[in-house]
Amino acid sequence: MEFMWVFLIVLLSLLAGPTPILSDSSLSSNGFSEIPKKLLTLAQKPELFEWMVGIRRKIHENPELGYEEFETSKLIRAELDKMGVAYKYPVAVTGVVGSIGTGKPPFVAIRADMDALAMQEMVEWEHKSKIPGKMHGCGHDAHVAMLLGAAKILKEHEKDLQGTIVLVFQPAEEGGGGAKKVLDAGALQNVTAIFGLHVAHHIPLAEVASRPGPFFAGSGFFEATISGKGGHAALPHHAVDPILAVSNVIGSLQHIVSREVDPLDSQVVTVGKVQGGEAFNVIPDSVTIGGTFRAFSKETLLQLKQRIAKVITGQAAVQRCNATVNFFEDEKPLFPPTVNHKELHKHFQNVAGDMLGTHRVKDHQPLMGSEDFAYYQEAIPGFFFFLGMKDDRLGYLDTPHSPYFRINEDALPYGAALHASLAVRYLIETQLEVPLPEQQNRDEL
Ligand SMILES: *[C@@H]1O[C@H](CO)[C@@H](O)[C@H](O)[C@H]1NC(C)=O
Ligand SMILES: *[C@@H]1O[C@H](CO)[C@@H](O)[C@H](O)[C@H]1NC(C)=O
Ligand SMILES: [Zn+2]
Ligand SMILES: [Zn+2]
Repeated sequence: MEFMWVFLIVLLSLLAGPTPILSDSSLSSNGFSEIPKKLLTLAQKPELFEWMVGIRRKIHENPELGYEEFETSKLIRAELDKMGVAYKYPVAVTGVVGSIGTGKPPFVAIRADMDALAMQEMVEWEHKSKIPGKMHGCGHDAHVAMLLGAAKILKEHEKDLQGTIVLVFQPAEEGGGGAKKVLDAGALQNVTAIFGLHVAHHIPLAEVASRPGPFFAGSGFFEATISGKGGHAALPHHAVDPILAVSNVIGSLQHIVSREVDPLDSQVVTVGKVQGGEAFNVIPDSVTIGGTFRAFSKETLLQLKQRIAKVITGQAAVQRCNATVNFFEDEKPLFPPTVNHKELHKHFQNVAGDMLGTHRVKDHQPLMGSEDFAYYQEAIPGFFFFLGMKDDRLGYLDTPHSPYFRINEDALPYGAALHASLAVRYLIETQLEVPLPEQQNRDEL
């Protein structure tokens, strides 16, 4: 085995030639506008690219649902061990929080989510999911590979770092609120900024898009049981019909957004589930409905929640039914809206612009979808952006959560380099804002 390594190293150095990689790619604060381009060049080196692709495919083959990412977490820790990156584990059941740098302030975090979805992959390819009914259908496998790629580059330049970069490998983004658990574990205690990204099928490769302020909506879920009194369908006067009550409830729920909410303040109430009745000629005892609601501020989200409860119980009462409404406060807490910090948005525009060219840094409309990155942003200034994957050579890329969802692996180096650049530049710029220590001032005077 050792012989193999020597052989490989000799071979690699022959292939690489006598390029002065280190001096060339130093991440010092002199000329820091060059850093993002340098980091992209490093991330696109064939060795690093192939390595990220390998990790991504391995995770893709073995998708794990929220809080069950044991093998994924193990793989991450094995790679961090190989790099010599220190980490905390477990954080939030399966999470891993690494750190690279001086161990001193400032602290900046970069985050990847690790969980897959409970769905069957329909893409036929060599690295298709090996677990029936589970799939990395949202690209979190790529997110992990990108963050590990960033870790590798950053560790190799650790001596240049002017603070500490915290790597957050987070469980359970898909509805499990893993971000909240990571925060509650205190793992981000001294962090003053956090960055996260999501691969985007609708944005061209080598482009990024985001916006300052509200980006994704906050969301909540509800379920309600409307109870009447079952009976013969031909004798409605002996029964209390919950089906009719529910039909009125659903109609009235739609009036909340259309009649009570500012038309310029986007909000959604959707009933996605109705269950009740078994027979053509029987009035059932009860009916259960369930749904979700979305809004761009915590305040409006709480207002929607209150009105949903009132409308359901009120409309049920009109039809002599009783209703109970469950908002799953414990298992599915309200996702706050994803609100991007304005200063960090400028930072992102500068850094991504230096790497990709300002014409490849786009503004994006707000979306009604949710992202649990929002929990971090409630606690610390945070910024979230889309990383483009679209490439005509690959044909149409399906939306996330589609069984045909595919990743353009050429996006991996961009993700790794953006993670690394946003963090490195944040540390440098934060240090520059801090007044110089007395001694240095005196020297200069
Ligand atoms: C945050 O900083 C304090 C004070 O320096 C330190 O005691 C604590 O361990 C740090 N927390 C983390 C999670 O690094
Ligand atoms: C509704 O609840 C009240 C009070 O518990 C009860 O008296 C009534 O029978 C219930 N009605 C239905 C239709 O379940
Ligand atoms: Zn998703
Ligand atoms: Zn996702």
